[in-house]
Amino acid sequence: MASFNTVAGCILASALFAMVVGKVSNALVHPHKLDKPALAVSDEAPQTATAAAPAQELPPIAPLLAGANVEAGKAIFMKQCFTCHTIDKGGPNKVGPNQWGIVGRKKASHEGFSYSSALQAKGGDWTYEDIDHMIFKPTAYVKGTKMAFAGLPKAQDRADVIAYLRTMADSPKPLP
Ligand code: HEC
Repeated sequence: MASFNTVAGCILASALFAMVVGKVSNALVHPHKLDKPALAVSDEAPQTATAAAPAQELPPIAPLLAGANVEAGKAIFMKQCFTCHTIDKGGPNKVGPNQWGIVGRKKASHEGFSYSSALQAKGGDWTYEDIDHMIFKPTAYVKGTKMAFAGLPKAQDRADVIAYLRTMADSPKPLP
């Protein structure tokens, strides 16, 4: 048994040694082989960087709203938003303002809530697209917002939540 192990160990060791030697000598003998991929990567890096900037622009949420799942949206709201927002009619403000009738509501307009000056300066009403940006990345959409929420990265999750928000109103706004 011992001798078998020794033999097996030897075979393994020499196999490993051969592999290492192969790798090292490859690198030594063909050093310029590495140059091409390395260059190609650094060539592409700036392009990827410039492409990343427009990628921050969100594709329109409207197409996803038609097929959105209100019940799924409610579940996400209860998990992710309810800590800070009530949504029932006349519900109290918590860390964030009550969300009843938020679709089409004037930004930073809920009475009794002390909004950041950043959100007050934003202006206009909460459209579907604006809410989408807000819940995608609040700090990017309203620089200086008090909404300390990481955001919902998945478009379908946002569409579901927005579809739910829409129903929580005296007269839900038409879908876009
Ligand atoms: C950690 C607490 C917190 C969480 C979680 C949170 N929010 Fe907020 N939200 C706030 C605060 C605070 C504000 C007020 C922002 C300001 O004044 O800058 C706000 C503002 C808003 C507004 C604008 C309200 C208005 O009257 O103009 C919307 C819309 C909104 N939140 C939606 C959501 C949704 C949807 C979620 C879940 C996906 C969510 N928020 C999660 C704290 C939170």
